[in-house]
Amino acid sequence: MTPERHPAEQASAAQPLDPETVLAALTLEEKAALLCGHDDWFTAAIDRPGVPRIPAIEVGDGPHGLRKETGVDMVWVPATGFPTASALGATWDRALVRRVAQAIGREARAEGVQVVLGPGVNMKRSPLCGRNFEYFAEDPMLAGELGAAYVDGIQSEGVGASLKHFAANNQETERTRVSVETDERTLREIYFPAFERVVSRAAPWTVMCSYNRVGGVHASQNRWLLTDVLRLDWGYQGVVVSDWDATHDRVAALKAGLDLEMPGTGGRTEREIVEAVASGELDESVVDAAARRVLHLVSIVSDAADDEHCLDGPVMRRGHEPGAGLSSEQLALLGAEEHHALAREAAACCLTLLRNETRPGTHGGEEAVPVLPLDERSGANIVVVGAYAEYPRIQGGGSSGVDPTQVDAPLDAIRAVAGDRVRYTPGYVHRPLNAYQDDLPALFDAHDVVFEDDKTGQARRTAALVEPLRRAAALRRALTATVSAKAQRLIDEAESIAVDADVIVAFAGLPLVFEQEADDRESLALPADQIALLGRLAEVRERTGALLVVVLSNGSPVTMDPWHDRVDAILESWLPGQAGGLAIADALFGRINPSGKLAESFPLRLTDTPGQPNWTGERGTVRYGEGVFIGYRWYDALGRAVRYPFGHGMSYTTFRYSDLDTTVLDPAAGRVRVACRVTNVGPRAGSEVVQLYVGDPDAEVRRPPRELRGFEKVWLDAGQSIAVEFVLESRDFAYWDSAIDGGAAHGAWRREGGEFRIEVGASSRDIRLATTVTLPDDPVLPALRPDSALG
Ligand code: BGC
Repeated sequence: MTPERHPAEQASAAQPLDPETVLAALTLEEKAALLCGHDDWFTAAIDRPGVPRIPAIEVGDGPHGLRKETGVDMVWVPATGFPTASALGATWDRALVRRVAQAIGREARAEGVQVVLGPGVNMKRSPLCGRNFEYFAEDPMLAGELGAAYVDGIQSEGVGASLKHFAANNQETERTRVSVETDERTLREIYFPAFERVVSRAAPWTVMCSYNRVGGVHASQNRWLLTDVLRLDWGYQGVVVSDWDATHDRVAALKAGLDLEMPGTGGRTEREIVEAVASGELDESVVDAAARRVLHLVSIVSDAADDEHCLDGPVMRRGHEPGAGLSSEQLALLGAEEHHALAREAAACCLTLLRNETRPGTHGGEEAVPVLPLDERSGANIVVVGAYAEYPRIQGGGSSGVDPTQVDAPLDAIRAVAGDRVRYTPGYVHRPLNAYQDDLPALFDAHDVVFEDDKTGQARRTAALVEPLRRAAALRRALTATVSAKAQRLIDEAESIAVDADVIVAFAGLPLVFEQEADDRESLALPADQIALLGRLAEVRERTGALLVVVLSNGSPVTMDPWHDRVDAILESWLPGQAGGLAIADALFGRINPSGKLAESFPLRLTDTPGQPNWTGERGTVRYGEGVFIGYRWYDALGRAVRYPFGHGMSYTTFRYSDLDTTVLDPAAGRVRVACRVTNVGPRAGSEVVQLYVGDPDAEVRRPPRELRGFEKVWLDAGQSIAVEFVLESRDFAYWDSAIDGGAAHGAWRREGGEFRIEVGASSRDIRLATTVTLPDDPVLPALRPDSALG
């Protein structure tokens, strides 16, 4: 069955569309219609005699793969599921992220979607944010660089990106209401720069505003955010779209700079716009400016569309039954095979080797050598423990969930390498409904969790999300607190099998209910049964001498007490997408050399984390009291120990850093060249991420000890050496000085004269080379105010 053609699709992109000509021909009502979505996924089409036909634009979710609705609510057309953004963040690889986004763009064209809703470049203020798996990093430069690469990749395919969620959307609790209260310096230095970088480098066709308020005003109607900062300061020219249902007052939002409201409201908000113009409350020129931008978007997506790639896309034109797979012809049109291979390559680049202890006698020899990689030919008995090996966690929950074209289980991939030497035992309960959704009722049942109101049949859905979220929170609490009798039996069974192992590969991580949109975690711990399982396996290791390797599947940090020191190796696989299983097996057996580096700090405990005292706020307000100190900026400023620092990630080879050289190219412009040499002094080829940090130890204001200002990922054969070069600009040394009168802004960028510390390292806490440079004061001066003292 082919779903009926959507009414909004009926006008097709036949001829190129000139926004100015079209605008002049439209009535006020038509212009207003263009500014309010037709429904969930389509903008309005206009098709009447005398006006060039304006096709609808179809948008689809991303950003980890295409999520196009089939026409049946919450049923999606299959597409390739790539690693999620937090996994891609760990690659520090602009070129790879660009290629992934290009593939998503190609799939969007094949399925007939013109704008993909992503990437998300929000900062990870707290590791508890349930949506952190959708964001790249705790550092704005890294998130901005990868976000720009993503936008560039997708738009190179003629498909628009939607940079989201602008701005300060750093928690999901009360996300549609909460007001973020912070100073402008914090916004300018931490929460804005990733957006600013993507806007200025990659010009996304759309920017999506966030749900929350900033300084009391919803982002969707915050003129300072959408016009003063985004358009006037950064020069953004594209369309600003609302997050779904984030528009509270359509007219106020339009005046603030919000062009397109999504989804549609069945004509209600169009009428509000028309009435506001009629009453004189709204100037028609504001409607025109927004409509012009939407028409421009229509014109560029239509220009990109050709016969094979117009609204429906070639895959959809072959027909698709909602909920069914794609035919082999459709998979070929999608590029599924090639994209699965890319998903595998990307997942491999995300893998982050956190720990790799040496043990004498490992792999048969006398010498103490690192436990990983395992030797494919050693003949060792391998016991794989953990249900995620069989049903992998590939992505997080919510609007980014993709219906994958296929899923490779790590267990199959390990068996493909090591054959019948591999035994498997689930170790804990994990019953996915399908590859991307936990089966909540089954999970409840499996964990013996029963609710009072469920028993009496009193449970009622008060609002669409309230009840599922309440159940999810209750389930998380239960999973974190108790080990059920059923789980205990699985642990006993795992022990009885693991005692015969030479190598135990234990899969652990977070169930989907711990990482989903509209929801935050309460704890950083793994579920209690997994902690108990790892403890039991550690006992086996101590008794039998088996090697114990832990593979983690989680989109954001977890704590590792009490098992961390009792395991030999930890491989962080993140939420690695549909081909993650193959990549994990490749890394375990050394077919690839892991090169991921943490894009976010792994704390020792929750109470160490930034913003924790006022996390999620109270009475509708959350104060970012920690200011610019989030992530490693926080841990470094306090000299606080972490489990694994920002930038950390091991390799099967070793890199040496040398020959640091700095040259001030232009003192007034603050342009500084930093060069160094990196040599692969280990036994095999691998990639290293060279990280450049800058600090201003004697600043007038409190500044983080170091901030990432450059990074390069380099591939080196064994013995190979390479020169790496960075050029720093004035802004890399500057802070946002609130004492300067910046007009609409409270402040301006200021580079304070003096000595700056330049550090190059393999992580934020593994600085290999350091020096200082001296620069003059930047001549940004406060503007004269009536009360300025002259002379
Ligand atoms: C999410 C967006 C998403 C949109 C459409 C919203 O709830 O916050 O990220 O793109 O829904 O699904």
